[in-house]
Amino acid sequence: MDVKSLIRSIPNYPKPGIIFRDITTLWQDARGFRRAVDELVWPYAGDRIDKVVGIEARGFILGGAVAHQLSVGFVPVRKKGKLPWQTEQQEYELEYGTDVMEIHQDAIVAGENVLIVDDLLATGGTAEAAVKLIRRMAGEIVGAAFIVELPALGGRERLDTLGIRVRSLCQFEGD
Ligand code: PRP
Ligand code: MG
Repeated sequence: MDVKSLIRSIPNYPKPGIIFRDITTLWQDARGFRRAVDELVWPYAGDRIDKVVGIEARGFILGGAVAHQLSVGFVPVRKKGKLPWQTEQQEYELEYGTDVMEIHQDAIVAGENVLIVDDLLATGGTAEAAVKLIRRMAGEIVGAAFIVELPALGGRERLDTLGIRVRSLCQFEGD
C-alpha cells in the first residue's frame, strides 16, 4: 500500500496556481493512517527519544499518534495565545507577514531527545521555529519527520543548515 496514492491533490486551492496536498484522505483510511505512522516511526527504532513535538494544527494529529507508538510524551508547539502556562516564543514567516509559535517552558527538560513531527515540509519556516524553541530549552533534536515534502520550496536544505536530519514519506514536485 502506497501512502502517496492516498493523498488527494486539489488544484487551485487555496488560490489559483497552487496544488493543495490534502492528507485528510490518508488519515481517514484505516490502513493508510496506520501505515503512515509505522513508516514514520520505524527509522527511529533503537534511537533514544524522550518527547515528540507536534506543530499546530495538523502536526497534532500525526504527532500524537507517533508519540503513542513510541510510548513517549507529546509536546504541542502552538500558535500564539493558546498555551495557558509560561511559554517560549519564536517568530516565523508566513507567506504574508509573520506569526509567533509558542511552547511551554517546562515541556522539555535540558538534554531530552526530541523528534519533531508535522504533516508537511514546504519552506521549512514552521519547522525552523520549532527547532529554535526546542534548542532554547536545551533539547537535543533527533530529527524532523513529515508525511509530505515539497522539495522545490527548500525546507530540507533549510533544516540541513540547522543540523536537522529530515525524513519524509513522499515528495511532490509540481503536478
Ligand atoms: C502548513 C503545514 C506545515 C506548514 C509547512 O501548516 O501543516 O505546518 O504549513 O509550511 P512551511 O514549511 O513553509 O513552514 P499551516 O501553517 O497551513 O497551518 P495548519 O497546520 O494549522 O493547517
Ligand atoms: Mg501546519
